[in-house]
Amino acid sequence: MAGDGNGQRGSSAPVGDGADGEEHDHRRVIAIDGPAAAGKSTVARALADELGATLFDTGTLYRAVTLAALRAGVDAGDGDSLADLADERHIEVAPPSSADGRLYDVRLDGEDVTWAIREPGVEASVSRVAAHPEVRTALLPVQRRIADDRLVVMVGRDIGTTVVPDAGVKVFLLASVEERARRRHRELVERDPDQAPDFERVLGDLRERDGIDAGRASSPLRAGADATLIDTDDRPADEVVAAITEVVKRRWAALGVADPVLPSVSAPPTVEVSPGGDRAGR
Ligand code: DC
Repeated sequence: MAGDGNGQRGSSAPVGDGADGEEHDHRRVIAIDGPAAAGKSTVARALADELGATLFDTGTLYRAVTLAALRAGVDAGDGDSLADLADERHIEVAPPSSADGRLYDVRLDGEDVTWAIREPGVEASVSRVAAHPEVRTALLPVQRRIADDRLVVMVGRDIGTTVVPDAGVKVFLLASVEERARRRHRELVERDPDQAPDFERVLGDLRERDGIDAGRASSPLRAGADATLIDTDDRPADEVVAAITEVVKRRWAALGVADPVLPSVSAPPTVEVSPGGDRAGR
């Protein structure tokens, strides 16, 4: 663990304005941010299962918009048209329907695109798509709505800094780019040994994505001053989950969240994302 100060204020309940301008309770939002392939989704799935929480990986939104753009022939440099696509398309993120290694289902206009959004074409363009302020603005209200009054583990780049700045728990996962490339390469080989790119290519791609994600003007990837930093190099996923669970318990105790150890367990609901309904204000 690189830092465990958790500089978040312990006394004031993080109740802030939600997507609808009303006040909402965000104490039970667990924000997990960090660079690509830092292991965020894997630990978030385990944590969400342990807590009976909804898992929402916000990267799926940017990936689904990128896939829609590739299919529709929309250029990754055209922010306005990409934002239009984000508004028009119906994206759903639901608990996994199959035991094929997926952490959740992602549907685009009803079609299962869980694996399609991981393919090389999407991988190569998604950081450029996500860098457009128009796209980020189009996808912001739906992410905020999901955070309102919910026990949810939210994964992304800017959850703790921009999407839900008053989240009760904010964690930023770190890992060296070499370690992340090793993990991503192993994953790709396991999925399809014939199609997997070589290690150097994966490393180069990750470096490029880090540069775009951290260098963009609109809510760049960075750890907020009040996030707990957890270094995942040389740490198995279950240790990282245990470390985050400790942070959650401590924060919930400080914030007065009822029963910090065992919140009521409910089936994680499907998260339906129809950005079009939230266009106001763009
Ligand atoms: O976490 P991921 O690899 O699935 O994310 C895909 C892309 O989406 C990545 O380039 C960064 C971007 N992203 C973002 O900008 N903000 C988020 N909250 C989540 C993802």
